[in-house]
Amino acid sequence: MKRPRNIVILTGAGISAESGIDTFRGGGGLWEQHRVEDVATPEAFASDPDLVLRFYDMRREAIQTRQPNPAHLALARLDREWPKQAGGEVLIVTQNVDDLHERGGALNVLHMHGEHLTAWCTACDRRHRWTGPLIHRPPCPSCSEPALRPDIVWFGEIPYRMDEIYEALSAADLFVSIGTSGAVYPAAGLVRTARDLGLRTLELNLERSQGSAWFHETRLGPASEVVPAWVDDLLD
Ligand code: APR
Repeated sequence: MKRPRNIVILTGAGISAESGIDTFRGGGGLWEQHRVEDVATPEAFASDPDLVLRFYDMRREAIQTRQPNPAHLALARLDREWPKQAGGEVLIVTQNVDDLHERGGALNVLHMHGEHLTAWCTACDRRHRWTGPLIHRPPCPSCSEPALRPDIVWFGEIPYRMDEIYEALSAADLFVSIGTSGAVYPAAGLVRTARDLGLRTLELNLERSQGSAWFHETRLGPASEVVPAWVDDLLD
């Protein structure tokens, strides 16, 4: 394969699975006893804010007890080494709302579905790093209103920074998808955009995803094995 210059990597829940963070569609679609669709929507938040705040308080607390796995560490190594070795850029676009990419040392991470460790004030629209619970309606550090919500993109809401993602794809020559089922758009459509733009496309996943047919190459296996092996291949 021609040596790529700029690489866009899309990650999903599968890359954090071996860190002990449940995927969404693995265990029969139940997520901490809830169907994701029943807690991850603006309607759920409007009709039962305490249920939704408690659900995300639990998830925010849980991810802070988890550690990056070799897949996160390998991507962070690529993120650091690639510009030096190939003079190219790496962008990690993640659907995940944990901070394991960052704690693994990655620098260029774009959270298109938001982040557990950020709270978003619905009164003043500012975002704040947040590690504790929101159930007690703490005051917003900026405007003091008790109007903080999880900074998570819920079903029916618009994913973040899509223009930056498409811009990065138009300047890249390799698109790699890791640990995602290809079930949720627009993330699941990025491989087609990559193909339309003439990028090479590679999928690293435990099993074939819904989008596998769109990839030039699919390598199956646990992320903690296939991702470090791929990065080792790429770096000298
Ligand atoms: N290594 C690699 N891949 C794995 C592993 C592993 N150890 N374990 C599971 N996988 C794969 C599964 O085979 C599956 O294809 O990871 C994928 C996880 O798919 P989902 O649970 O659907 O997660 P994801 O694709 O990230 O979901 C996308 O849906 O619920 C919304 O907003 C939420 O960001 C999420 C989006």
